[in-house]
Amino acid sequence: MARQLSPGKLVIASHNQGKVREIRDLLAPYGIEPVSAGELGLAEPKETGTTFAENALLKAHAAAASGLPALSDDSGLEVKALGGRPGVYTADWAERQWFEGDAGRDWYLAMGKVEGLLAEQGPDVDRSAAFVCTLALAWPDGHEEVFEGRVEGQLTWPPRGAKGFGYDPVFVPLGGTQTFAEIEPAAKHAISHRADAFGKLVAAVFGGQ
Ligand code: IMP
Repeated sequence: MARQLSPGKLVIASHNQGKVREIRDLLAPYGIEPVSAGELGLAEPKETGTTFAENALLKAHAAAASGLPALSDDSGLEVKALGGRPGVYTADWAERQWFEGDAGRDWYLAMGKVEGLLAEQGPDVDRSAAFVCTLALAWPDGHEEVFEGRVEGQLTWPPRGAKGFGYDPVFVPLGGTQTFAEIEPAAKHAISHRADAFGKLVAAVFGGQ
């Protein structure tokens, strides 16, 4: 049985505002007081892992060194026709310095890079993709729990919608017609990879409340 999470402060071990916002929404019903890594002035560890779980654990343990339990999210987009890329490197594909020499992330650049690689495979390319999310919980004594979620969909072009973050404007979930950036946050929370992982976390560490 997983270790239970008691009401009280929990560090959200992410500096990604989109993720922090979604995790706060998902945690709202559980008597948890979320504090972001940014608010605590915690440094962002280097994501040197080669799997989502390795990177999520790295971030959660680094934040749990603050003395509070910590929750991290490592997530990304797996594109079938690209052999699962960008995968764990999803955020890196948005780094401007790779292309233009200055630091910072540009999601249009990242979405365009994926689209460019798909276009190279011709008009009939398989546009299937999945968002995946690994949530890791770590406690100051070193205990850890990991939960994985996934949502399948299709990539569309050009990007549509202004809600959400990251690659949301090009991702249409299976059975839908609108992108994750066009639908309301509550509708995304009902089906997203993050919500899928979060459902497993809730069942395990809040005793299914
Ligand atoms: P990391 O987990 O910090 O390495 O970054 C994962 C990247 O995947 C994010 O910066 C986003 O670009 C992308 N990503 C993860 N979850 C979502 C999502 O819900 N919508 C859109 N993009 C996402």
